[in-house]
Amino acid sequence: MMKIVVVALLDHYKFLVNKMNSALLTEVVKDELTTIKKIIGRECSLELATTSKMLHAGYSLKIDITTPKTEGSALKDTICQFNLSQFPGNCAMMITHETFQPPDYRKRGLSVPVQAMKAKIAKYLNYTILLATTVPGNYNDKVLARAGFKRLDPLCFVSTRTSNRITTWMKVL
Ligand SMILES: CC(C)(COP(=O)(O)OP(=O)(O)OC[C@H]1O[C@@H](n2cnc3c(N)ncnc32)[C@H](O)[C@@H]1OP(=O)(O)O)[C@@H](O)C(=O)NCCC(=O)NCCS
Repeated sequence: MMKIVVVALLDHYKFLVNKMNSALLTEVVKDELTTIKKIIGRECSLELATTSKMLHAGYSLKIDITTPKTEGSALKDTICQFNLSQFPGNCAMMITHETFQPPDYRKRGLSVPVQAMKAKIAKYLNYTILLATTVPGNYNDKVLARAGFKRLDPLCFVSTRTSNRITTWMKVL
């Protein structure tokens, strides 16, 4: 048992060092960061805010795209945040969830580079499918369709928990 835990931790450590760190992910999405920089007119950078390995359920990452609050400041503003988590029990599928853009950074065309970043990071981590769910009443459906996600009609339903109408989307990476 002890050996299994040690092997799992070593595997986790190797994966983090080799593939999942802010510098490498920045390189993966450098074109999208350039686009964001052009849109907002300021420097921006990617931070791997948190990462975890849920044993037996794969990896989960929280990405934060930030910009200095003012020129040269060490304080940062979040431009966008999103999470990417492996679908428990299936190492080919990643789910994007909890995408957030503060109001100051909405309606400026950032959704295009942000969606492209999600797909590039998931592909770089060798996932095959990216999944997302939406509820009506915002621009998410438009944004996901434009980013190449397909609606999964059999997985569009009313949640018995929240009564929300849920749409499920899938993108082949
Ligand atoms: C974050 C989010 C709210 C919008 O991001 P954004 O940067 O403001 O979006 P954009 O500026 O790129 O605009 C995208 C489209 O939505 C429209 N839109 C966005 N906010 C709008 C607003 N407040 N009023 C009217 N239209 C709006 C834009 O006009 C644009 O449509 P158009 O190109 O046809 O004109 C969101 O739509 C998004 O990214 N959604 C996807 C989230 C996701 O991944 N969900 C699944 C898992 S969490």
